[in-house]
Amino acid sequence: MAYVLSQRRVILGITGGIAAYKAAELARSLSKAGAQVQVVMTDAAKAFVTPLTLQALTGMPVRDSLLDPEAEAGMGHIELARWAELILIAPATADCLARLASGRGDDLLTTLVLATPAPVHLAPAMNQQMWAQASTQDNLATLTERGFVIHGPESGDQACGDVGFGRMSEPEALQRAVESALAPRALEGKSITITAGPTQEAIDPVRYLSNHSSGKMGYALAEAARDLGARVTLISGPTALPCPERVQRIKVVSAQEMLEASLAHLPSDAFIGCAAVADYRPVSPAEQKLKKGQNDLSQIKLIQNPDIIATIAQSDRRPKRVIGFAAETQDALAYGQKKLAEKGLDAILVNTVGDGQAFGADHNALHWCDAAGCVDLGRASKRVLAETLFQTLIKRTPL
Ligand code: PMT
Repeated sequence: MAYVLSQRRVILGITGGIAAYKAAELARSLSKAGAQVQVVMTDAAKAFVTPLTLQALTGMPVRDSLLDPEAEAGMGHIELARWAELILIAPATADCLARLASGRGDDLLTTLVLATPAPVHLAPAMNQQMWAQASTQDNLATLTERGFVIHGPESGDQACGDVGFGRMSEPEALQRAVESALAPRALEGKSITITAGPTQEAIDPVRYLSNHSSGKMGYALAEAARDLGARVTLISGPTALPCPERVQRIKVVSAQEMLEASLAHLPSDAFIGCAAVADYRPVSPAEQKLKKGQNDLSQIKLIQNPDIIATIAQSDRRPKRVIGFAAETQDALAYGQKKLAEKGLDAILVNTVGDGQAFGADHNALHWCDAAGCVDLGRASKRVLAETLFQTLIKRTPL
């Protein structure tokens, strides 16, 4: 993705920590990939790495003062804040996080952060005890809530001899993060509705029928679609997962509720049914807890639930693309293709269940099947597979 950075305008902020030496490597690789890198250093940063080094690596004089008449005569700080397409502060010390969280603007770097409309990314780096402090974690939570993008830190050996969280993310990982933040957003302006998680079908107030879906695959899809610029509605059955940022989540419990919420969000550009919807529900859930001695629990009458995705696919407000999932224990591709045709879908993602695969796991393996055949999307984390799925969608059936 190196071409993504060609002529892109990045401010690399460096604050005073031992990890500042890694910022030199990052400045070099961002410049090598074609970015215009304006380094801005705090006074403390200059104790760890010299401005001259960074000037040599980026080809641009380093900025370090808010009140430098010469620099301000060239590009003033407000102009510089507007010039940036992205600000990355690496390393961001505990002090830097505290000053950003409290909205300080008493040096060039904090002032630029206050004045820029660009996204601000932070790569914290500090001693593990400083990282664990409640004040640091509170500042981090504030910054995350305000839309700052945080990378790392990683765990491992620290320069001070401690071991734990606080090592700055590696320059290659930060470079990838900058590339992905500046990459063209292929789903900009598109609306995507995704169902996720299980449904629960009440037997009585304390019992229900359900399955092992954790929601991880559907939530990963929501995050990937959001990062590609889509407006995402996530219709979620009961899960323990937090709502992804900048995603509209609608919580439901039963298949019937999931159907109603899905229909209420038509039309959209794409509907992706990743939820593991219970196929059956008790005909009439009891209002009071059923008692073992008094009720025959082995005779609960079931009725088939509506097929949500088939209803969406047949709707007169059908989304441009309707994409399902198939969880199978055997002959996965054959069963998946059958469901593709029967439910009237544009594509179906087939995963094989069993041996800790698919349900609940952090990783998955998927095949994409459509009218033209099946493609192996490989085995990876659910987040990476979600990105691959959207790339495949964009390539094979553009929205
Ligand atoms: O949530 P995780 O733990 O991360 O696990 C992910 C997953 C295994 C649940 C996911 O990858 C997956 O395979 N989801 C679909 C599971 C499923 O129920 O498949 P199915 O073959 O029963 O259904 C086929 C399609 O019809 C699915 O798109 C399903 O959402 C939809 N369906 C099924 C029944 C029903 N009544 N209404 C539906 O819309």
